[in-house]
Formats: sequence, C-alpha cells, structure tokens
Amino acid sequence: MFGTGNDDKSERMGPKYDTPSLIGVYRTPPYLHHGKAKTLHEVLTTYNKQDKHGRTSHLQPAQLDDLVEFLRSLPYEPPPTVTENTVPYRVPPEKNK
Ligand code: HEM
Repeated sequence: MFGTGNDDKSERMGPKYDTPSLIGVYRTPPYLHHGKAKTLHEVLTTYNKQDKHGRTSHLQPAQLDDLVEFLRSLPYEPPPTVTENTVPYRVPPEKNK
C-alpha cells in the first residue's frame, strides 16, 4: 500500500482497487485511481513524495524524464478482432463479386 487511498476523502474503497496495467498508459491520463495526477511525471513526483510508490525521490530530473519516456513507450495493443468466440461472418454471394 502506498497511500493514494488516503489522498481522497471521498474514497470509500480505501486501498481496495485494482493495480492498473501500464500497457498503453500514455493514452489514459489522468492517472491514479482518483485521477489527480494529470501527467505521468506527477505520478512519480507530486503524488509520490514519500516514496511509497516505488523509489523515485532520489532520481535526477533527467532520470525522471527517462523513466517517464519509458512509461510512454509502453505500447497500446488493440483488442484482437478475432477470438475463439467469434462467429464466422460470411459475405453474402451477391456482395462478394
Ligand atoms: C518506480 C517504479 C514504479 C513506476 C514507474 C510505477 C508506475 C505507475 C503508474 C504510471 C501508475 C498509474 C497508472 C494509472 O493510473 O493508469 C501506477 C499505479 C499503481 N502502481 Fe505503480 N509504479 C512503480 C512502482 C510500484 C510499486 C513498487 C508498486 C507496489 C508495491 C506499485 C503499485 C501500483 C498501484 C497499486 C497503482 C494504482 C494506484 C492508484 O490507482 O491509485 N507501483 N504505477
């Protein structure tokens, strides 16, 4: 537990929320369960002052930038178009010319 559950007085779940995947995190601001962190940089600075969420306070500005760039590079993978439950679709013959 690193304390974001206490950041928000209206939070009724306490610390009981899912840890999000970081895949495609570049496209889903704002961050943290309460959405208070507008940028990834804020996740690691403003909202991690006590190093409860990983150790980031010792990082130099350029190192923080590198870490943010790494997070931004995590690709978003679109959901598969075909799964084992997909019903095969057949194009009607008259449209298949
Ligand atoms: C420096 C290392 C770490 C980095 C760069 C990092 C990165 C992130 C980011 C960017 C988010 C926000 C995701 C979102 O809102 O969509 C996040 C959330 C979270 N991370 Fe980490 N994390 C680190 C270390 C850790 C560690 C060590 C733990 C557990 C021991 C952890 C557990 C969580 C949890 C529970 C959340 C959800 C918090 C909330 O929504 O309020 N992380 N992390």
